[in-house]
Amino acid sequence: QLDGVVALDGPSGTGKSTVARELARRTGAGYLDTGAMYRAMTLAVLRAGVPPTDADQVIRIIRAATLRIVTDPDNPKVSLDDVDVAAEIRGAEVTSAVSAVSAVPEVRELLVREQREIIARVSAAVGGIVVEGRDIGTVVAPEARLKVYLTASADTRAQRRSTQDTAAGRSADLAATRADVQRRDQLDSTRASSPLRAAEDALVLDTTELDVAGVLAELTELIESRG
Ligand code: C5P
Repeated sequence: QLDGVVALDGPSGTGKSTVARELARRTGAGYLDTGAMYRAMTLAVLRAGVPPTDADQVIRIIRAATLRIVTDPDNPKVSLDDVDVAAEIRGAEVTSAVSAVSAVPEVRELLVREQREIIARVSAAVGGIVVEGRDIGTVVAPEARLKVYLTASADTRAQRRSTQDTAAGRSADLAATRADVQRRDQLDSTRASSPLRAAEDALVLDTTELDVAGVLAELTELIESRG
């Protein structure tokens, strides 16, 4: 049983999603993938034919879109205007546009507000929630009981992304994946509005040499040792 919020932040390919979901499952907590929210909004922008860098148009599309998130770790869902978009938001088009959309301050404001509402609702219902993203410990849930910032070497992260892509039936060229992961991390870390960084009170966990079970063991120990 998990009480309160566990915040997992870090760049892509560090194993955040797999670990966050499994941790939630084992502790009976909710699971919130905030990246899926930015991705779904990016899909809405692309579908509308709006350039992801045109902030005014992006805001207009995002205000009009209806996003729904299911936080059950056994069956997480994300839908846009009542249509499931789980597969589509992982595609190359969304992946290459998402950092531009998520750099728009109004987009973040709107999604952070929704994320806080979800966290409050789920915490009240099941006691705890594992939330993963880029700014959870710094902005979305600074009160989190545990903040962990996951890292891994660039090669490891590219390799993990590419393995995931292959497993999901998407084409996965390792060099292209590595370039994309680095480009996105660069954009996410240097944007003006809540950039990717570890919160001052976050524990940094390097997962380069750890498998999923190893990361979960570390996290479980941290949660237990902190009461
Ligand atoms: O975690 P994931 O790779 O699905 O996130 C996709 C993108 O969404 C990130 O590269 C980042 O631009 C954005 N994001 C964000 N803040 C979050 C979660 C994701 O800006 N809390």
